[in-house]
Amino acid sequence: MSGALLRAEGVVAGYRPDSPILHGVSAEVGRGEVVTIIGPNGAGKSTLVKAIAGLVAVSDGSIRLAGNEIANTPAHRLPARGVAYVPQTDNVFGTLTVHENLRLGAAPLPRRAAARRFDAAYAAFPVLGERRDRKAHVLSGGQRQMLALARALVPEPELILLDEPTAGLAPRVAAEVLALVRGLAARGVAVLMVEQNARAALGVSDRGYVLVEGRNRLEGRAAEIAANADLGAVFLGRRPPVRRPAPRAGAG
Ligand SMILES: Nc1ncnc2c1ncn2[C@@H]1O[C@H](COP(=O)(O)OP(=O)(O)O)[C@@H](O)[C@H]1O
Ligand SMILES: [Mg+2]
Repeated sequence: MSGALLRAEGVVAGYRPDSPILHGVSAEVGRGEVVTIIGPNGAGKSTLVKAIAGLVAVSDGSIRLAGNEIANTPAHRLPARGVAYVPQTDNVFGTLTVHENLRLGAAPLPRRAAARRFDAAYAAFPVLGERRDRKAHVLSGGQRQMLALARALVPEPELILLDEPTAGLAPRVAAEVLALVRGLAARGVAVLMVEQNARAALGVSDRGYVLVEGRNRLEGRAAEIAANADLGAVFLGRRPPVRRPAPRAGAG
């Protein structure tokens, strides 16, 4: 995609300089696009989003945002560059209220601008508005994910990185969260998410990447990846088809 907002190319990254986890991974996300990364446990999916989020050292390759290099930009500088990151766990402060959690996302904003963003957050996530003075630890898992999303959106990022936003959620709640993710893209945000819940995630995605052992294995339209028989067996929790489907008459 020539106009990609995020372009990661040949990223080599890891937790120790002598043993990289990512061995030259590439991925792109355009504005208004939802892109999902799937792959087996330990493939390096979280490491990739952490590398983009400035939390893992990048030793080779490039990560460009709107053409500007952001590799190895410290994580705390990225919100001002338009990048938000929601880790898989511990992504809200349980002892703070919903509203206090949102305020953490607004730290650099002038008071009046922040107030408008909070109004927008409660409009987008009414369930949070109803609970704004509750401590986050009393929220359900789905509500906590929504709070983590809402907080990440307060600075109005151009790119949001989500690590397994549906982990631990019941299927119906997971679908609700994924629908909200899709809605972000409809507002022009670029979304890069990692998901174990591959089939549901691909269902709201435009494109997908499969990572295996720190390398790109496959990429394509989300529907094509979801329909890939071999991947189905490995990642999507279903068996390969016994026969190939007959070509559709008059398709295309
Ligand atoms: N903080 C860490 N320090 C050292 N190694 C790590 C750390 N986090 C993950 N790893 C290793 O990096 C590899 C990829 O992990 P990860 O990116 O979390 O995989 P995935 O998200 O695809 O399951 C694994 O071998 C894992 O053990
Ligand atoms: Mg992970």
